Amino acid sequence: MSAKSNVPTPHIGAMPGEIAETILLPGDPLRAQFIAENYLSNVKQFNSVRNMFGFTGTYEGKPVSVMGTGMGCPSMGIYSYELIHFYGCKNLIRVGTAGSINPDVHVRDMVFGLGACTTSNFPALMNLPGVYAPVCSWELLRKAAEKADALGLSYHAGNILSSDMFYGPAEGPEATQKWASMGVLAIEMEAAALYTNAAFGKANALTILTISDHLLTGESTSAEERQTSFTDMMKVALSLA
Ligand code: HPA
Repeated sequence: MSAKSNVPTPHIGAMPGEIAETILLPGDPLRAQFIAENYLSNVKQFNSVRNMFGFTGTYEGKPVSVMGTGMGCPSMGIYSYELIHFYGCKNLIRVGTAGSINPDVHVRDMVFGLGACTTSNFPALMNLPGVYAPVCSWELLRKAAEKADALGLSYHAGNILSSDMFYGPAEGPEATQKWASMGVLAIEMEAAALYTNAAFGKANALTILTISDHLLTGESTSAEERQTSFTDMMKVALSLA
C-alpha cells in the first residue's frame, strides 16, 4: 500500500517544497498578491483554492512565501495548521490591521502582538487543564524590534485581543473599556489561533499590526498615510525571512 501524501491539502493546492519556511500572512488574499507583486522577486503562485492566493518568491535572495488567511480564528487556524504540519513552515508572520483601544497607540502606529487574549474558544479547544496564554515567538519579536530600531521606526509591543466579533456586544464600548483596563493595546481577529497553532506545532509566530482605526477616539487615516505605515510594517516583516 502506498503512503498517502498529506499534500495538496483540502485548502492549499501546493506540492511539497513549494512553500518557504518563512511565510507572511495577511488576512486578505489580494493583499498577499500585492505583497508578492511589489516586494518579492521570482514569484510563483502556489495556491488559488477558494481564491486564498499564496505565492513564493525571494526577498534579498532569501525564499519567502505570502498567503491570505481569511478573517477570524477558525480560518487562521486551518491555514496555519496546514502550513506548519503539512508544508513544514517554521516562521509564520501575520501582517494585518487592528483597532486601537489605548490612548497612546495611534492610527498608523505599528504594534507587535506579544500576547493574544481572545473571545474565541480556539485556545480552549486544546483541552489543557487551565487557561492557555497564546504568545509570540521571542526570537521573531527580538529580530523585528531590532530591525525596526535599525530603520528608526517606532512601535508598541504588548497584549492584543483576538476577537471573534467585529460587530456586536463583545465589541461595544463597555467590553472595549474592560480589555483596555487590563493593558490590552488593540483588537484584531486572528493572532490567538496563530500563536496557539504555532506552539502546538513547534513553529515560531509573530503578529505585526498597523492601527487602521481608533475605537476610543474615532481617529482615522488617509489612504496615502495607510500605505506608508503598511510599507514600514512590510520592511520589518520581510526582514524576518
Ligand atoms: N476589530 C477587530 N478587528 C479589526 C478592527 C477592529 O476594530 N480593526 C481592524 N481589524
